[in-house]
Amino acid sequence: MENLEFNSSEYFQKIYKRPVLLEAKNLTQTFKHGKTERTVLNALNLKIHKREFICVIGPSGCGKSTFSRVVAGLDAYSSGEILVDGKAITGPSPERGMVFQGYTLFPWKTVKENVMFGPLMKGQSQATAEAHAREWINIIGLDKYENQYPHELSGGMKQRVAIARALVNEPKILLMDEPFGALDPHTRQKMQRHLMDLWQNIDITIIFVTHDMDEAILLADRIVALKANPGEIKEIIEVNLPRPRHPDVMLTPEFKKLRQHVDQLVHADEDELDPALAELPVIPRMTQVSHCK
Ligand SMILES: Nc1ncnc2c1ncn2[C@@H]1O[C@H](COP(=O)(O)OP(=O)(O)OP(=O)(O)O)[C@@H](O)[C@H]1O
Ligand SMILES: [Mg+2]
Repeated sequence: MENLEFNSSEYFQKIYKRPVLLEAKNLTQTFKHGKTERTVLNALNLKIHKREFICVIGPSGCGKSTFSRVVAGLDAYSSGEILVDGKAITGPSPERGMVFQGYTLFPWKTVKENVMFGPLMKGQSQATAEAHAREWINIIGLDKYENQYPHELSGGMKQRVAIARALVNEPKILLMDEPFGALDPHTRQKMQRHLMDLWQNIDITIIFVTHDMDEAILLADRIVALKANPGEIKEIIEVNLPRPRHPDVMLTPEFKKLRQHVDQLVHADEDELDPALAELPVIPRMTQVSHCK
């Protein structure tokens, strides 16, 4: 089925020889909650190499989105450093494309206009921006839909447009926070394959946040497992599965072994869940609702 010649230690040695693209040094993020301060990311140290596919997992509230927002440049951080190509992140930049779970397309723009937005903002002419947009719309296979509006597309299609809209700017990093979280399992699987194909064929480093451990193992070179309260790196797992990967890889003993390991890592933290979840209220019996009689 897969390439039997795959040698994982050689594969990772090659990755580690590539330049470091993103580096977090003692990255710390604290938030004020009333009078108290809460450390969400605590002295995170991480090096991500060029063209790596990194998945970030961890229990709800451990700081995955906080980390993505800091890397995206959407939020300032409290202390430490976060560098891309050795330069500190000071705000959003087209070099870091973003695809988040909520569909973030402009609803009043067509598919083509959404994808053209970045190139136009960069000062490209209408014709050049349109040509670039078309190229990416073709790559994601939505050329027949270029004049449709987001509300006329399925969830999977919207996320493909969001990916094209990010990639048209030729970013160094594609940041994805639960991008397939709202999709049905079949569409999600198709999107995972589509993303792996894209990644294999373009010069891009992907940081992909997910709750789904199977998704993380299927996609990642390395999985960064965070623990909660405060968010710290618990373990970085090298996924020693051959590439290209087909979903059938999930049936192999190697995949199952990784799955068990990742499962234990994440579930060991269940007692340290987001306090807001740990303190979920007990729902009183709603006797006034007729079907509860
Ligand atoms: N702007 C903010 N102000 C105050 N607290 C915040 C802010 N953003 C996030 N937090 C807190 O930081 C913690 C981590 O939130 P974050 O959204 O990063 O978690 P997550 O790992 O992405 O969770 P989930 O898996 O549910 O998406 C939460 O307790 C949250 O309440
Ligand atoms: Mg999140």
